[in-house]
Amino acid sequence: MDRIRIKGGNALNGEIPISGAKNAALPLMAACLLTDEKLTLLNAPWLADVGFMGELLRSFGVETSYVRGPGFGEGGRWELTAKNIVNTTADYDIVRKMRASFLVLGPLVARFHRAKVSLPGGCAIGARPVDLHLKAMEALGTEIVLDQGYVLASAPNGLTGARIEFPFVSVGATENTLMAAASAKGETILANAAREPEIVDLGRCLIAMGAKIAGLGTSTIAVEGVSTLHGTTHAVLPDRIETGTYAMAAAICCGEIELTGTSADLIGSVIPLLQAAGTTISPTHMGISVKRNGGRPAAADVATEVFPGFPTDLQAQFMAVMATARGMSHIKETIFENRFMHVPELLRMGAEIEVAGDTAIVRGVEALKGAQVMATDLRASSSLVLAGLAAEGETVINRVYHLDRGFECLEEKLSAAGAEIERLTE
Ligand code: UD1
Repeated sequence: MDRIRIKGGNALNGEIPISGAKNAALPLMAACLLTDEKLTLLNAPWLADVGFMGELLRSFGVETSYVRGPGFGEGGRWELTAKNIVNTTADYDIVRKMRASFLVLGPLVARFHRAKVSLPGGCAIGARPVDLHLKAMEALGTEIVLDQGYVLASAPNGLTGARIEFPFVSVGATENTLMAAASAKGETILANAAREPEIVDLGRCLIAMGAKIAGLGTSTIAVEGVSTLHGTTHAVLPDRIETGTYAMAAAICCGEIELTGTSADLIGSVIPLLQAAGTTISPTHMGISVKRNGGRPAAADVATEVFPGFPTDLQAQFMAVMATARGMSHIKETIFENRFMHVPELLRMGAEIEVAGDTAIVRGVEALKGAQVMATDLRASSSLVLAGLAAEGETVINRVYHLDRGFECLEEKLSAAGAEIERLTE
């Protein structure tokens, strides 16, 4: 299994290109199932999760082609044609690897009136049920039966629009329902919908495919179903989690990095926190410049929230920054029930953190110390990379396949900015 070795202590300087967003690319790929014409996605990142989604789509009979961009982080091109669909079953073997596989349910039922999709099961960061997805599909006229770990969904007469009020905000349930509603008969209202930029990106692509959608980016989305959707070409929006992670790398290491191909709007909730921690952030014509001049960051408190609040996917990385801050910070996780698995690993590196319920109390230390640590999930792993970059001595991160799920060319991007980081392959 691959490991990553980091020799900490270098300042970061230079340019880091930001890739297309994983969390936008996955639902966008699933959207190809809504039409028999070709869907072309540009600025598509090359990541393990995106590869799993390609594998799942091919298992249905989708013709797929992926061509990588010329340099690292330059974005690849997916061409996806769901013309000859031979199968509408999403097997456990693929779905268990990636929860976002569940996003094929809405489009499959919308176009083929049936689907059999494995339940994703739990994952390291919590139980993560799919009840909201299923209730929304039922509201649109799908009969749902749970059998031997699979969701058997059928809508022999097709889907019919409905008013769906989500009891709480779910990114995935909003995406699944949006795709299903795009070709249901009549109007669907999604109330208490997610407002994440990735939902807006998916909605824009659906509109380019012929869907009628209003209210994207607000908590009420109205969809007027159309009978046929067609192919289009769509560029995936920049990855705001990757943007925030590298901005935090500059905050923890010092130096000046320009994050290119991204925009400050995507990390609006993160910027004031990094500023409070002593980082200067300014927009450039290519993206965002992030600069910190030395000394330790200042402590700041944060609670994760749904968009436009501070993203749960940046909580672990921010904790790494706070682990070296002057003073004490409180970091509260409100989205997932078990998302502090990075804490014991940061403790191995000399951090002082106590967890009390949903809040981690971080007392910043003068310096973290390199250690052997283990990646437990995608975002937790990236916090260990940040900690390793700032720590004294050598850090070796085990189980880096988690990082490969969501960070394109991580070692190349950080090395180009002056970090000493390498992959050890066995
Ligand atoms: C998406 C992101 C993930 C991010 C999360 C929250 C993708 C591929 N993944 O995940 O990186 O951390 O949003 O921003 O876009 N829930 C239920 N029932 C449901 C659905 C969700 O109880 O049917 C709960 C979940 O367990 C969780 C909360 O709702 O506690 C939010 O989950 P959700 O917004 O659905 O996250 P994902 O779409 O899985």
